[in-house]
Amino acid sequence: MKYFKKLIGEKCYLSPISIEDAEQYAEWLNDLEVSKNLLVAHQQITLQKEIEILTEMSKNQSQIFGIIDIKSKKLIGNCSLFKINHRNRKAEFGIFIGDKKFWNKGYGTEAAKLILDYGFNILNLNNIMLEVFSYNKRAIKSYEKVGFKTIGKRRETLIIGNKKYDEIYMDILASEFESVYIKKIMEED
Ligand SMILES: CC(C)(COP(=O)(O)OP(=O)(O)OC[C@H]1O[C@@H](n2cnc3c(N)ncnc32)[C@H](O)[C@@H]1OP(=O)(O)O)[C@@H](O)C(=O)NCCC(=O)NCCS
Repeated sequence: MKYFKKLIGEKCYLSPISIEDAEQYAEWLNDLEVSKNLLVAHQQITLQKEIEILTEMSKNQSQIFGIIDIKSKKLIGNCSLFKINHRNRKAEFGIFIGDKKFWNKGYGTEAAKLILDYGFNILNLNNIMLEVFSYNKRAIKSYEKVGFKTIGKRRETLIIGNKKYDEIYMDILASEFESVYIKKIMEED
């Protein structure tokens, strides 16, 4: 598979997605250890459905990137900015690392910083928001490291195994984010 270095970190880079990776994404999204943290746990993600999702995301206003491990050159997940509203300069953020070997190694935090840098400094967004389930402590910790702040929660909106969990909302403003990658690119001239 051919990937392109759009936004480059130390561990990973973000590349435009390839529809040919749909099968890999479908495999990860059918893994409940991954998808219990996403909005798709209750869905059957067939190959055809994943192709449709990726095609739709590339057609509309979303910005979706594959996350590529620099060392192994392998796709490990993806991240996106969606519901982009240019008039009010706001969007929502989503991420998943499907290859579980890469969890807890700083990839998610770095990928989030790269896409936020792009969102704030190329797309000129002002507010980026996310939703996370209350039991997803790893994600919450990673988001806090990126600079997201909790702005509220909706109580008992997710029911799994007869237990009720909250949806937590976090956001970050352009003024709270420190650019590394785009700043470096602009200083090179
Ligand atoms: C959430 C996700 C993107 C985070 O990426 P990651 O590369 O695993 O996370 P990072 O290593 O950058 O950061 C995770 C942090 O959480 C910490 N952590 C891990 N498990 C934890 C727990 N149970 N409680 C508190 N902190 C925890 C880690 O120690 C690390 O912090 P540290 O670097 O200070 O030690 C990734 O794990 C993932 O895709 N998970 C499955 C799908 C998902 O949850 N997507 C997000 C939906 S909102």
